[in-house]
Amino acid sequence: MSAVALPTRWRSVLPHLGHELPPDRTPESAGGTGLQVNLPLVLARQSIQSKEYWDIPAEVVDAYRAFRPTPLWRARGFEREVGARVPIYVKYEGGNISGSHKLNTALAQAYYYARAGAKELVTGTGAGQWGTALAAACAMFGLKCTVFMVGGSLRRKPYRGTLMRTLGATLHASPSPLTEVSRNRAAGDVNSLSLAIGEAVEYAGRTEGAAFCIGSGETYSILHQSVIGTEAIEQLQRLDARIDTVVGCVGAGSNFGGIALPFFADAASRGADQPLLVAAESSATPKLTRGVYAYDQTDATGTGPLEAMYTIGSSYPIPDSHSAGLRFHGAAKLLSAMRHRDQIAATAVGQVEALEAGRLFTRSELVLPAPESGHSLAAAAKLAAGGADGMRSEHGVVAVVSGHGYLDLAAYQQLMDGELVNEGPLEAALGTAMASLGRVPVDEPAGSLG
Ligand SMILES: Cc1ncc(COP(=O)(O)O)c(C=O)c1O
Repeated sequence: MSAVALPTRWRSVLPHLGHELPPDRTPESAGGTGLQVNLPLVLARQSIQSKEYWDIPAEVVDAYRAFRPTPLWRARGFEREVGARVPIYVKYEGGNISGSHKLNTALAQAYYYARAGAKELVTGTGAGQWGTALAAACAMFGLKCTVFMVGGSLRRKPYRGTLMRTLGATLHASPSPLTEVSRNRAAGDVNSLSLAIGEAVEYAGRTEGAAFCIGSGETYSILHQSVIGTEAIEQLQRLDARIDTVVGCVGAGSNFGGIALPFFADAASRGADQPLLVAAESSATPKLTRGVYAYDQTDATGTGPLEAMYTIGSSYPIPDSHSAGLRFHGAAKLLSAMRHRDQIAATAVGQVEALEAGRLFTRSELVLPAPESGHSLAAAAKLAAGGADGMRSEHGVVAVVSGHGYLDLAAYQQLMDGELVNEGPLEAALGTAMASLGRVPVDEPAGSLG
């Protein structure tokens, strides 16, 4: 492991993209609360302004100090287990109270919302790491916190809920009896993150002093996660390590964007060759490998703006899985636009393979990864060994391990008892969910822009 300085600036990829993101569209049905209603100005600016470095507020740097810089090491034991031809380095984000990278943006968001006058933050969470991170950040900056957590996930991981409540948050299992969006949900929609988010949007919209906030997908949350990549670049330099491939798992894309985009910005600013940036998604939600680039909703209320994203359709009934943090229908608009121009690549991993990679990692590195992070490790292993989807690393891989798996031991137990199956997409429903979406007009040819 190698100690580096705590970053005091976030690094944005926007000045290096070479293209603009397609603007959001307001759906015709939009009426009430939109996602952006209470958004602090600085977060809006961080999402659009072509400025490379953003000073991290001193209070947030101080909060980061408790758990950053996070460790990066060469996973030699894991390399041996998976037959890697090239080195695999891992960057571990699980060593904080939330158990994942989510705290990097939660602290920033709570700080900015508190300064903007919010008294309470409301959110939806799938796996629970984001809800836990927000609960912790609210505790730190003196805000109330209300969390709608996907009910199936909460039943599977009740201690996530206990942790959020210990941190002072009020917790509701979604679907809850508290919102219209829950009462009017589609038959069978009992378990989606998009619904939990929709409930949070509605609840925040009608609660005095409350603001809805979201852990992933937004360009500002990917900016806050850039501390991961910024540290990793310096740590690899100190180790004199040469890598050509960067891997992270993708729910909406914040931990992948957090590690990968500083590498993109770094290479672009030096005029160097771009590394291969590989997003490892769940085969249950294959938006980047099988989805369409279209305008879609980010949540189930349908009142927020439509965003240009790779999506399998917000109405797609996502099969249950242990990688709850990856159960999201779309990819962040920033990553989607990059994918559309071949600036990032993607591969899909099933939960059995992901947990098997997690098991091998646990016994070879003595670190227990979250099932979501298992997707990153499985993809990294393939890229460092035989290759995946026509891609392979020639010099070395760095993979982010986005969280710990201590509250996911039931998933590992099922794996070892032979009870786990891969959650394939439901083919017919996939086609239906994508059929009616408005495609993003192709205004320029796809192809790499540096
Ligand atoms: C441990 C972990 N990894 C990955 C993710 C996926 O989120 P994102 O794509 O924003 O990094 C989550 C989301 O909850 C998570 O908890």
